[in-house]
Amino acid sequence: MCGIVGFTGAGSATDILIRGLKKLEYRGYDSAGIAVFHDGDIRIVKAKGRLANLEEKIKGDSTLTSTCGIGHTRWATHGEPSDVNSHPHDSHRITVVHNGIIENYMRLKEFLTGKGYEFKSETDTEVVAHLIDYYYKGDLLDAVITAAGKLRGSYALGILCRDDPTRIVALRKDSPLIVGLGKDGNFIASDIPAILEHTKDYYLLDEGDIAVLEPGGVTVYNMEREIVQKEKLTATWDVAAAEKGGYAHFMLKEIMETPKVLADTINPRVENGEIHLEHEAELDELFRSVKKVMIVACGSASHVGYAAKYVIERLARVPTEVDIASEYRYRDPIVEPGDLVLVISQSGETADTLAALRLAKSRGAKVACIVNVVGSSIARESDYVLYTWAGPEIAVATTKAFSAQLAVIDLFAVRLALVRGAIDEAHARELTAAIAALPEQAKALLAREEECKRLAARYQNAKDLFFIGRGLDYAIAMEGSLKLKEISYIHSEVYAAGELKHGTISLVVDDTPVIAIATQSHLIEKTVSNIKEVKARHAKVLAVCREGALDGDVADDIFTIPDGEDLFVPSLDVIPLQLLSYYIAVLRGCDVDKPRNLAKSVTVE
Ligand code: F6R
Repeated sequence: MCGIVGFTGAGSATDILIRGLKKLEYRGYDSAGIAVFHDGDIRIVKAKGRLANLEEKIKGDSTLTSTCGIGHTRWATHGEPSDVNSHPHDSHRITVVHNGIIENYMRLKEFLTGKGYEFKSETDTEVVAHLIDYYYKGDLLDAVITAAGKLRGSYALGILCRDDPTRIVALRKDSPLIVGLGKDGNFIASDIPAILEHTKDYYLLDEGDIAVLEPGGVTVYNMEREIVQKEKLTATWDVAAAEKGGYAHFMLKEIMETPKVLADTINPRVENGEIHLEHEAELDELFRSVKKVMIVACGSASHVGYAAKYVIERLARVPTEVDIASEYRYRDPIVEPGDLVLVISQSGETADTLAALRLAKSRGAKVACIVNVVGSSIARESDYVLYTWAGPEIAVATTKAFSAQLAVIDLFAVRLALVRGAIDEAHARELTAAIAALPEQAKALLAREEECKRLAARYQNAKDLFFIGRGLDYAIAMEGSLKLKEISYIHSEVYAAGELKHGTISLVVDDTPVIAIATQSHLIEKTVSNIKEVKARHAKVLAVCREGALDGDVADDIFTIPDGEDLFVPSLDVIPLQLLSYYIAVLRGCDVDKPRNLAKSVTVE
């Protein structure tokens, strides 16, 4: 949420900042702005709306030629999207960009107002600029350290000082920030894609690190002003992975990458038909003794959690709870030593999920995470990390990372079940082979994109829509419903198929669209009964099911998925649901990659 970029070196900072912001726009697109040095001062340009508005505003501006500056793309928290609330914010000699929330900003604002500072915006960020300016006595690093000691909340900050025209100071707490190390200059960025075209080398800033960037080098200090030796990391993502590659939208490109992502996630963990997870010895030992698995995640990642509950309980017979992180962290959960908390997150930076992880650890649980972004906060703070090798996911609506998370869950569940003796080796091998077949099956499904397009045309005008399913199908129905809502803005509800008749079926009338997921063999008759209940009320039904599972007259439309192990089918049936949402959103003229009010990587609670 909110993207930060900064550059100092040789070359036009404005160009580098704008190109970097383009790569970060998925993190927020309410407004954007840049600040660069000019003529002994700092020049700030900002504009409400998409980055294109800012580009228009700076076109031909001859005052923006500096080689050092910072930029920001905003997802509004405090203060509506407007020019004045856009970042950067300044105070006399200091200019800042910020991602996160300053929780004690009201008190700080009162304090600073008392000291004569005048506030222009409604943002929490403006207090940071004034506070640093207040403590600035000629040494920016000192002022930043003192100000940081007064801030509560989360922040990644890029800071310029009028007196240091080639220097950027940057620090973070609970919001991501990396420092890119280039040949011709150095960078700060919220995420790797923003620096990839310039360098793959970077430092990950830890909490309490303060980086001082100059054109010729970067020095990292701690809060005691001692130099910290950082490990230089090298990004494995390439530039092409963060480009659209000829597709109309990132979302479509990312759905199409599913087979590769599944293969990259599954294959390195399968050897001679056996599953081997990272941290094998430690995890196996934990698997033998664990009494309960608690899964914590947000949004789509929590839907993976609901699917995981079915798979883990069925195969390994270990009680598994699923919690939405924002609820978990405030409900005083019963979590103790011996429990395994499994945290799922694409970005690895989701604020609520990170807080839930910290809570679980503080109570003595072991934490394993399934995360996509290497070196993200959740990855760094977990005891065990199982990466999804999905590559950069740019579209705000998650697709390929979701499929990769499911695949890791499948591998995890089979290994857990085998180690605990809940299944024998022969069964484990059979299941492993079924998981290994998923990438090819996904490929076959994607080849039927046209079918999804045709279905999208039939359902594009829906006003309200229902998703139903039982068991694992219910978990995937949740994801189908969320995907449709977030990108096409069609209202939809999701119900366990057996639950509909306990109230909601009163909403089903002539032509109400119902999408029924019916892939679980042991539940098929039950789900068919539920489909018939809505058909009897003249609903228009699209069923996602196996070939031959339904008689032709049970549903108005049928999308069939390949045969295979019931437990692993979510990785497949989510694909037509993603494509359906995508094409419906395209047909309705929606901004698919940047749905309204949303942003990727939710670093505020
Ligand atoms: C929906 C979506 C979100 C995320 C959620 C968690 O398409 O992408 O619901 O799944 O914000 O994000 P991560 O996985 O980064 O923790």
